Amino acid sequence: MLLLLVNYLILKLENRFNRAMLIIRSILATIEFLILFFYYCLEAFILMFFCLQKNVAGKIVLVTGSANGIGREISINLARLGSILILWDIDEEGNCETAELAKANGALAVYTYKCDLRKREEIYAVAEQVKREVGDVDILINNAGVLKGKTFLDLLDSDMEETLEVNTTAHFWTCKAFLPAMIAHNEGHLVSIVSDTALAGGNKLTDYAASKAAAFGFLESLAFEMRAAGKKGIKTTIVCPYYVDTELVTGVQTTRPFLLPIFDVGYVGKKIVDGILKEKLYVVMPPYARFILLKIFLPEKAVFLFAEYFGFFNNLDHFRGEVQRGQATKDSVGILPLDNWYV
Ligand SMILES: NC(=O)c1ccc[n+]([C@@H]2O[C@H](COP(=O)([O-])OP(=O)(O)OC[C@H]3O[C@@H](n4cnc5c(N)ncnc54)[C@H](O)[C@@H]3O)[C@@H](O)[C@H]2O)c1
Repeated sequence: MLLLLVNYLILKLENRFNRAMLIIRSILATIEFLILFFYYCLEAFILMFFCLQKNVAGKIVLVTGSANGIGREISINLARLGSILILWDIDEEGNCETAELAKANGALAVYTYKCDLRKREEIYAVAEQVKREVGDVDILINNAGVLKGKTFLDLLDSDMEETLEVNTTAHFWTCKAFLPAMIAHNEGHLVSIVSDTALAGGNKLTDYAASKAAAFGFLESLAFEMRAAGKKGIKTTIVCPYYVDTELVTGVQTTRPFLLPIFDVGYVGKKIVDGILKEKLYVVMPPYARFILLKIFLPEKAVFLFAEYFGFFNNLDHFRGEVQRGQATKDSVGILPLDNWYV
């Protein structure tokens, strides 16, 4: 009887001790977290003034949607830094123009490939061709995108499928194709040109905002996955610009130009490359658009008031519709031969 009682008391003491240890460990972990958190914030603040930049000279950079708009500007800016460029687009003519511009601006070499990003098998086939003909990709920039600008019920099923294929799932397939080599060398950089609509939706943007939010979640999760696997050498950058003056958004208007201006595409191209060189995790344009995320703390009426004030109901009222560029038939493979390169 006495033995049972002693055993019971020991067990109870042991439980209490374990619980106390658990609490102490948790408190210590929180203190460590707070110290590191403030240290990293301070470090980031100091590095804003003395930031070392990545050297991209001689690096192999793949840009999707390079034939026009933001993709072309990114390519030209990287060309100035002496990168080797691989340009993917469905629009062959535009892509050749970008290649000429990149070459004229100092690219070490430029390779163009026709690739329809709606098609997984084509992405894999062109990726294999790139690895054979050029080598492993150091920086992958998923930029290509489409915008339908229709209300949810006006969108055809095929519209929604295309938006998700080009703006989101293409990122899965390109990363799947090029990430293994990056992991093997513990070096590489994945970049996604997303949009502010990943942070807040808008009228006539159901498919587009969904595709961008998905692309955001995809790359952020992949970043965490790389960290969890100890692959600190693999960087990620998620770019969220507000509207930019490209053909993608012809006719789109901003209600508050002083707060949310429509950006010049040249400026956006420079800012994106600057973010890549500084290995930023997020590039948000304008930077204070990050505060949009605070919407989840607001009451319903305030959220709708906010959306109306910033024009999220009417931005696309005068949208002139999608640009059709080099649309391939669903079956064409469309890989350009190697003689379409510019060294
Ligand atoms: N323009 C803006 O206001 C804005 C704002 C935020 C984010 N973005 C994003 O920036 C990226 C670039 O947009 P942009 O404004 O330069 O548009 P853009 O229309 O000028 O360029 C998009 C490019 O993607 C290519 N593309 C489209 N479908 C393709 C497919 N199936 N296969 C291969 N290539 C395809 C087009 O041919 C084009 O060259 C997009 O992801 C877009 O969503 C644009």
